[in-house]
Amino acid sequence: MHVTVKTGQPESTSTACLILGVFEGGKLTATAQAVDKASQGAIKALLKSGDLKGKAGQSVMLHHPAGLACDRLLVVGCGKEDAMDITTYHKVVKAALTAARTTAAKEALVCLGELEVNGRDAAWKARLCAEVAAQLGYRYDQTKSKKETDLPPLAKLQWWVADATEARLAKRGIAEGTAIAAGMTLTKDLGNLPGNICTPTYLAEQAKALGNHYKNIKVTVLDEKAMEKLGMGSLLSVSSGSRQPARLIVAEYNGVTTARKRKPVVLVGKGLTFDAGGISIKPGAGMDEMKYDMCGGAAVLGTLKAIAELELPINVVGVVPASENLPDGNANKPGDIVTSMSGQTIEILNTDAEGRLILCDAITYAKRFEPEIVIDVATLTGACVIALGKHASGLLGNDQDLIDALLDAGRASGDRAWQLPLWPEYDEQLKSPFADMANVGGREAGTITGACFIGRYTKGLRWAHLDIAGTAWDTGANKGATGRPVPMLVQYLLNRVAAKK
Ligand code: BES
Ligand code: MN
Ligand code: ZN
Repeated sequence: MHVTVKTGQPESTSTACLILGVFEGGKLTATAQAVDKASQGAIKALLKSGDLKGKAGQSVMLHHPAGLACDRLLVVGCGKEDAMDITTYHKVVKAALTAARTTAAKEALVCLGELEVNGRDAAWKARLCAEVAAQLGYRYDQTKSKKETDLPPLAKLQWWVADATEARLAKRGIAEGTAIAAGMTLTKDLGNLPGNICTPTYLAEQAKALGNHYKNIKVTVLDEKAMEKLGMGSLLSVSSGSRQPARLIVAEYNGVTTARKRKPVVLVGKGLTFDAGGISIKPGAGMDEMKYDMCGGAAVLGTLKAIAELELPINVVGVVPASENLPDGNANKPGDIVTSMSGQTIEILNTDAEGRLILCDAITYAKRFEPEIVIDVATLTGACVIALGKHASGLLGNDQDLIDALLDAGRASGDRAWQLPLWPEYDEQLKSPFADMANVGGREAGTITGACFIGRYTKGLRWAHLDIAGTAWDTGANKGATGRPVPMLVQYLLNRVAAKK
């Protein structure tokens, strides 16, 4: 859906569908009042009828209301005025666009930017609309022989604003929302593709395609031979049981054109294209979902796409270790000891804790970019799904300022994280009698010990770890990749750019 900005009188603007908000208790927004007046009380009459209570997300469609220039008037409930917050606003905008998409309207004029949302500005609100519009339009059909044909005709949205100042802000917001949505779409597509198509080689090819498309992105791909030379014994031990060769994808986005070299933010994303568990094989039920185990890597590529679209003045490097984790005669086994690129040795007690084994070598590799910040993104532990469900990503790290900035970016973008402690007591669970560390720390605090393991490879770095095991995809009826945490990461980078100005 294409979104543009519109000023003027909504009541006299001709449109296929005018969208307005009313609050619970019957209070009208400013534009709703003007429209009500022009239509000789059509909205008040609707409220009086009792059909619309104003509950957040509820809506009623009126056809050809008298006195107005619109074919349809969609009145959307916004909940209680003083209870309006980011989550409710999201719900309202989503409900409005969903309802408009059930009609034959090809375009709509959306007047929901005037709602007060915790001091969020016109850019933020317009951005949310652009994001929601793109999300509703997302379809996965790459592996279906018949493409869906009866798609909703709604293709154009006009986002109404009061004046030129708001228009300027809203335009920026729409550009951001559209870029974030484009990044999320890439992330979702890669996530939804099955493991037999989305292999490490395929992921690398997609990264290369990104590099060809954006002049600011340079992509290098290391093959197993190159990784062997670098001493990535931990990463390679994971791919040894697989016939698909591993890849290390390095995508450098260069947005700072000045001669002064700015240290990059490095994003490291787990790119496990299928996780069967290896010799410590997983139970069969739901194993198909382990095609999503590369969503961290996909989110890193999606984030790079979004910031390249926005041409953000910042340097960001994406590092994606890509591998399968399968059992065969050459696979790593419980008890095996491998040497990571950092020189530290690892006793593999559970071959299913493979994410950390590929991430540690990728992070050691990332040190060559002299990063200002390192953030790794991984579907790392089932324990995180148990702890936080699908609403928040797990967040841990060694730098509280960085963590606070990410928490903040998560709140602002509606893509939230929640911090867990990374105390040294937990790290002791990784002790091994035979190597520098074990790759698992027992049943207790699995998300934290997973982060502790990665923490052993981030000495001297400002580092944060996002466990997206619960947030990267939905299961059940809405099964599919979510595109998270692209919104949080892009917001974090946007905030960084704004702070440096
Ligand atoms: N990719 C999984 C984590 C996962 C499981 C994500 C379920 C989402 C849903 C990861 O590689 C894994 O298998 N982790 C193990 C770690 C354990 C062996 C310490 C887990 O969570 O069971
Ligand atoms: Mn695993
Ligand atoms: Zn995994």
